[in-house]
Amino acid sequence: MSKVIAIDGTFASGKGTLAKRLATYFGYAYLDTGKLYRAVGARALEAKANFDDTKTLAKLATIIKPKELDNPVLKSGAVGAAASKVAVHAEVRAALYNFQRNFAAHPGKGFMGAVLDGRDIGTIICPDADVKLYIDAKPEVRAERRYKELLSYGEDITLANVAADLKERDHRDQNRTEAPLKPAVNAHLLDTTNLSIDAAFERAKALAETILSQK
Ligand code: DC
Repeated sequence: MSKVIAIDGTFASGKGTLAKRLATYFGYAYLDTGKLYRAVGARALEAKANFDDTKTLAKLATIIKPKELDNPVLKSGAVGAAASKVAVHAEVRAALYNFQRNFAAHPGKGFMGAVLDGRDIGTIICPDADVKLYIDAKPEVRAERRYKELLSYGEDITLANVAADLKERDHRDQNRTEAPLKPAVNAHLLDTTNLSIDAAFERAKALAETILSQK
C-alpha cells in the first residue's frame, strides 16, 4: 500500500514548500491541492461567474486536467482569492474529491507514496493518512512571506493589502461550513513563525521519519 503524508495549514504558512521537500526526500509524488481550487477560481473569473452561483461553479469544477495546474496564472493573488471563494461550496469540493483521492491511492509508477497539501487533507480527503502535519505561523509573518512572493511574480501590491487579504482568507477558510480548515485530531502541529525553511523541513522530516518507521 502506498504511504500518504497529509499536510494542512494556513495560507502562506510554508506548507507548500515543506510538502514539496518532503515529497522529494521520501521519493513520493506531490499534489498541491490548492491548485485545483485555484484552477476552478481561474475558470470562474474567466467565465465572469457569480461566486454565489453554486451550480455554475460546480460545473466549472468538473474535469480539471493535470496540465491546467501548471498555468502560472494560478499563482496570482486574484486567483487565490477566487479559489477561497469557490472552495466554500460543497458541490465544488465534491467535484474535486476523486482527483485528490485517486492521486493519494495511485501516485504513479516509481513513487512509493504521495504527499498532498491543502486545508482538509488530514480531515476529509485522506483521514487514514500515515502522517498528518498541520503548519501555521503568526499572521504578520505569513503576510510578509506572501508579500515577498507576490512581489517576485511582479504584482503591484502593498503589504497592507496582503495582510488584509490574508485576514479575510483565514476567516473564510476556517469558518466555512464545508470542510473548514482545522488540524485533524491526530495531526502534529508545526509553527514556522521563528523557523527558517531548512529548520522547518528538518523538524517535519524527523517527525515523518519516526512515524513512518513505526508503521
Ligand atoms: O493553498 P492555496 O492558497 O493555494 O489555496 C487557495 C484556496 O483554495 C484556499 O484559500 C482555500 C482553498 N483550498 C481548500 O479549500 N482546500 C484545499 N485542500 C486546498 C485549498
